Amino acid sequence: MTYRLYNNDCLEWLDEQPENSFEAIVTDPPYGLKEYSEKEQLKLRRGNKGGMWRIPPALGGNIRSPLPRFTVLNQQDIENLYKFFSIWGVKALRVVVPGAHLFVATNTHLSHVLCTALTDAGWEKRGEIVRLVQTLKGGDRPKNAEEEFSDVTVIPRSAWEPWELFRKPIEGRIQDNLRKWKTGGLRRDSAERPFTDLVPSERTPQQERDIANHPSLKPQRFMRKIVYASLPLGEGRVLDPFMGGGSTIAAAESVGYDSVGVEIDKQYYQIAAGSIASLTTLYIEEEKTPEVIKSNFDSQEHVLCYSQRQLFSDTYRQ
Ligand SMILES: C[S@@+](CC[C@H](N)C(=O)[O-])C[C@H]1O[C@@H](n2cnc3c(N)ncnc32)[C@H](O)[C@@H]1O
Repeated sequence: MTYRLYNNDCLEWLDEQPENSFEAIVTDPPYGLKEYSEKEQLKLRRGNKGGMWRIPPALGGNIRSPLPRFTVLNQQDIENLYKFFSIWGVKALRVVVPGAHLFVATNTHLSHVLCTALTDAGWEKRGEIVRLVQTLKGGDRPKNAEEEFSDVTVIPRSAWEPWELFRKPIEGRIQDNLRKWKTGGLRRDSAERPFTDLVPSERTPQQERDIANHPSLKPQRFMRKIVYASLPLGEGRVLDPFMGGGSTIAAAESVGYDSVGVEIDKQYYQIAAGSIASLTTLYIEEEKTPEVIKSNFDSQEHVLCYSQRQLFSDTYRQ
């Protein structure tokens, strides 16, 4: 398959693309707007913590990388975020064909801002995907008063990550749109099983982070699943305008789709360019036995056991 990468600001880049030129968008945008600013990236790269960056609790003795702290956003930041996604939403809508789906990663604090902005921009909300993963977000005791309020947690420790699902309005009936534009629906997991909105996942494995050293790298197994679903007939091109370390593009390569990635930061663009081939070839052995993997995730009971196991093992390790 072919992929193209661009080191650009996607807001400018989108304006240069012809209308109706992509069949899906799968992306994970910045939320603080601040965390990927030059100032905050410089701070992160110099190892200065605090403010936007919080060190999550150590797991199993391992010190974790800093995570952005979205709760520091004030009302003005939230209004700016709304404006950013409204503008981005209009630009993105223009470049996709009718019926194209948009899968967009978000978080439980700010998903309402994203959803309002994108629906105001003309996208149709089509659902929400639960990436079932034990994150390191939330769960802290009150800062500097941990002992005094040792039984208190300020916000829940998040055990899932929301991915919002949108669609550009279709032309006519779904079958008309599928025939004309190859879009409008989602690709089934298999003949027996439709794409399902609860996806058991994992934190990004160390071997993937060793390949692509990006602070928000998403795991290949999860990305492959949603990228696969994004083109109902397996035809067309997938766009990731906030490419980061290239996990969407690698997943598209792995499932056999053409794709395009855009990244504003030169260092991250170079990381993606150098990592996609290696990420693509991971877990090939697993994919040779897809029936075994699918049947593992088929039963709801298994899904619950899986997430509980993850939760409990993390809790006990802390
Ligand atoms: C949350 S990260 C994406 C991580 C990615 N999903 C991965 O798995 O590596 C968001 C990325 O968007 C980039 N970004 C921020 N603003 C951008 C813009 N206007 N145009 C293109 N990329 C941008 C940031 O530099 C960052 O790498």
